Amino acid sequence: MPLPDGFLQELKLRNDITEVASSYVNLKRRGRNMVGLCPFHGEKTPSFNIYTENGSFYCFGCGVGGDVITFIMKIENLDYIDAVKFLAQRAGLNMPEDSFDDSMSALRKRIYEANREAARFFYSQLYTPKGAKGLSYFRSRALAERTIRHFGLGYADPERYSLVNHLKSLGFKNNEIVQANLAYQNKNGNISDRFYDRVMFPIIDLRGNVIAFGGRILTDAKPKYLNTSDTPVFKKSANLFSLNNAKNTGSRTLILCEGYMDVIALNQAGFQNAVATLGTALTQEQALLMKRYADEVIICYDSDEAGQKATARAIGFLRNAGLLIRVINIPEGKDPDEFLRNKGEQGYNAFKNVIESSGNDIEYRIAKIKGSYNLESAEGRVSYLNEVVKILATLDNSIEQDVYISKISKELGVSPDAIKQQLNKANRKNYRDKRRSNFRDMQSKLNGRNDKINTERYKKPRVTTAEEGVIAFMIKNPDKLSLIQNSLDEERFQTDFNKKLYSYFSERIKNGDDILSSVSGDFTPDETAKIYQIVNSDFAKMANENTLKENINVINDEYLKLKTADASSASYDDIAERLKKLRENHQ
Ligand code: CTP
Ligand code: MN
Repeated sequence: MPLPDGFLQELKLRNDITEVASSYVNLKRRGRNMVGLCPFHGEKTPSFNIYTENGSFYCFGCGVGGDVITFIMKIENLDYIDAVKFLAQRAGLNMPEDSFDDSMSALRKRIYEANREAARFFYSQLYTPKGAKGLSYFRSRALAERTIRHFGLGYADPERYSLVNHLKSLGFKNNEIVQANLAYQNKNGNISDRFYDRVMFPIIDLRGNVIAFGGRILTDAKPKYLNTSDTPVFKKSANLFSLNNAKNTGSRTLILCEGYMDVIALNQAGFQNAVATLGTALTQEQALLMKRYADEVIICYDSDEAGQKATARAIGFLRNAGLLIRVINIPEGKDPDEFLRNKGEQGYNAFKNVIESSGNDIEYRIAKIKGSYNLESAEGRVSYLNEVVKILATLDNSIEQDVYISKISKELGVSPDAIKQQLNKANRKNYRDKRRSNFRDMQSKLNGRNDKINTERYKKPRVTTAEEGVIAFMIKNPDKLSLIQNSLDEERFQTDFNKKLYSYFSERIKNGDDILSSVSGDFTPDETAKIYQIVNSDFAKMANENTLKENINVINDEYLKLKTADASSASYDDIAERLKKLRENHQ
């Protein structure tokens, strides 16, 4: 059973989309709408729009769109029912009883509970004889009691059933424990602990739920870390370790580290704004997540080769997300944890100095390539300069470019004008490339190849657009349904997706339902985005009875063309109608 319409309308009324989105996106008014930098893809000029008149959003850059429920689904990584619950709670509304399928949401709740109990169990084990090994490991890594408690660190003992038995005694079902990825299930259906003989790091989301664990082995055995795989409550590419702590510092700067231990050591030394990815390289999604809480990210990866590769990759995503970047070079020791341990009491000040002496991402990249050229030779200097120019050409701020030009010109004893000339060449090439790719994008938009939802657009562009015009009209003017129905037979819709929309919306209008309130629940997120693209298109804004008539004409015309293309199988009526049309057009 779907959620009652009245409830959804009330929910949306009490959760104004502008207000809800404002806590994630910086919005500016533009005419009747609001615009901002899209939180779902990296961009420098705003293409994320909020349409206040119908409570929806659409991004022209990445094609994400929908209503306030879709927005919460996307930004909080929730499914439909949980997004509705989230908004109901935000507005102080009670969920209607028993009218919706809650099984997935119920399972997720059990997984959160199982994880919380597991974290408690692992922590309490530290202070038992079985867990003493874990505690002494943490002590050997210079962690204070208070730090262990703050992060809820723990220990999973070597027996294979300790956690499973504990959770079962608390009433958890095998299925719940396995779905939480806390246990493996073998062929005969028995389950055993996934984590054993490891120190445990709980991963906590922004709402304070334990969503996953990282478990480190105490020896040099492999794998060093075992992490929770993705589960119904955990997506590793969309979360960051310790962001729950870091978001509260109010500093708008985050320190991005490689490992759990680095983050914990930094916290202990007084830097609560440290975060780390969860056993994978940084993703664009994580960079955008950071952008919600920070304006600047300090990359603090290991100084080994893997760390430097990861730095280069992270710079791209962070820049894309519009973040300022600094790159730390840890002078002694491989990672921040080691560095801080070596410094002991002086850790805070020493690391503060390291941060202050760090350069931004451009300085870092220039320094990096500098090492690979012999600047004593003229050839070396030319090659170095060419590489620098390539980097500078990626900056779209000419003031920023100028700053580096004067630096490099002094460094190499080359005139700034000569560098500028090189740079202009590179800038022009970038501009040409960009124009070419914009042109390609536009072309594929026009020929419909990039329409992933209505895949028939490519073959039938004319009728697809006309069908969308009719749909846009009916959504805007539900009271004019009979006007449409009198002159258009549903069977004449040629693309399946639009035919589905037409019958869906006709049905809602006939039933007297609010036309858009269930779209985000009845369609997939991608389909929802497509529908809101149609609803908010310029085309829809122009929709009136005249454009409706034109669109219906196109649909009828295309239908008859199709029918009479093969004259032998066409009905007499179809041919007669087509001939009449042709005669009318010739008058
Ligand atoms: N990692 C992982 N699986 C591994 C190795 C590493 O998931 N087999 C992830 C973990 O999130 C780890 C991070 O990569 O925290 C960094 O790895 P590494 O530098 O090797 O570990 P540290 O966190 O520094 O741990 P330690 O200091 O205990 O060696
Ligand atoms: Mn380490």
